[in-house]
Amino acid sequence: METIKAPRGTRDVLGGESWKWARVMDVTASTADDFGFREIMLPIFEHTELFSRGIGDTTDVVEKEMYTFTDRGGRSVTLRPELTASIMRSYLEHDMRRGPQPVKLWGWGPMFRYERPQKGRYRQFAQIDFETLGVPGPMADIEIIDLSMEIYRRLGLSNLQVVLNSVGCPKCRPAYREVLKKYFASGFDSLCDTCKSRFDRNPLRILDCKNDACRQITESAPAVTDSLCDECGAHFKAVMRGLENLGADIKLDNRLVRGLDYYTKTAYEILSGDLGAQNAVCGGGRYDNLAESIGGPHVPGVGFASGIERIVITMEAQGAYMGKEPAPFIYVVTSGGGAENEAVSLAHDLRSRGVSADLDFMGRSMKAQMKTASQANARFVCILGEDEISAGTVTVKDMSAGTQETAPRAAAIEKIEKNVSRKEELR
Ligand code: HAM
Repeated sequence: METIKAPRGTRDVLGGESWKWARVMDVTASTADDFGFREIMLPIFEHTELFSRGIGDTTDVVEKEMYTFTDRGGRSVTLRPELTASIMRSYLEHDMRRGPQPVKLWGWGPMFRYERPQKGRYRQFAQIDFETLGVPGPMADIEIIDLSMEIYRRLGLSNLQVVLNSVGCPKCRPAYREVLKKYFASGFDSLCDTCKSRFDRNPLRILDCKNDACRQITESAPAVTDSLCDECGAHFKAVMRGLENLGADIKLDNRLVRGLDYYTKTAYEILSGDLGAQNAVCGGGRYDNLAESIGGPHVPGVGFASGIERIVITMEAQGAYMGKEPAPFIYVVTSGGGAENEAVSLAHDLRSRGVSADLDFMGRSMKAQMKTASQANARFVCILGEDEISAGTVTVKDMSAGTQETAPRAAAIEKIEKNVSRKEELR
């Protein structure tokens, strides 16, 4: 029988990588605190309708990529492809409108999209996601974009480009759609099949197509910013001015339309030069009509999400600081022959004092245990040989200095405990 492998498009984040994720999460959580965002935890599956109505029936995500199934009670449920719709659902369900506005929330976790897997694109991937709900003005957009950049700055990332656009609102977009359709009609035959099918249903998405022939046509397409209504135009200018004021280096791109239909006004992405074809490390924008499309009252919102895998790939490519790989402070080595219980008890005492300790379970030779301790990057080794066991002592070897000292067990533990307060210095 063949061994079962992980499904295509999923990845196991193993022990050699998970600590890098912990750094991303630490920086994200502390930045969230500094910007006044509260973490919320939401279900991984939701009613399918939340996404089909919220994200839009004609989007690739809803049409082709959702993991949808009927549960045992006959309901259609979907593994969440993103968090924004769920966060809005939660805001409405818990009547967060009644409290002070805005409500600033963040979340993270696995998302699911049946996409063609490649570097940086998976079927199960993780996002960090931030949303500011309940305010219509551009200050919230500026803060959201600044917050996303601040997370990357704290993670030590460079070579990133913020790309900004406005996608208008239901007042000005219909006219722009018509302008676009007129423009695309002349080059219709040269469009790819996907764009041909988008022509009537969602012509804005043609602007986003990566196909070479389509890109040639979209290059000189009419700009959405020339069709914005006064309100959207003023909002866009205020966001640009606010970001300039923060010294942000922003590139305007009229072809940035995003793949989810809920966006209004601001749309943005942050691109990394170190990601390859899937170069968006972050995507977001404003979505003032999402609440209504899922049956709620008018609730403006703005937010972004960033793929954790893509953040880690970028950090690795740029040699950014990824935190320290966890290593035991102490490795307990025994000469076998009845010393196992002593070793377990010493490790227990150390751990109960907050000292990380590890030990051998396989009854291997002292030499093999010393090798493991060194490979595990242990700072000190506690040796429990026959002499130590009979005398009630422990020999503590300093792995970087190469020196060692034998002391009664209690005194040795006390000394180690003192060293723990200098743990970072000693590493
Ligand atoms: P999105 O652009 O679909 O937007 O995804 C945001 C980010 O998630 C992308 O820039 C990328 O880093 C990561 N990502 C997306 N799909 C994959 C994948 N298949 N594999 C790996 N990483 C992926 C949203 O999800 C919106 N909910 C963002 C938002 C929040 N807009 C407003 N608020």
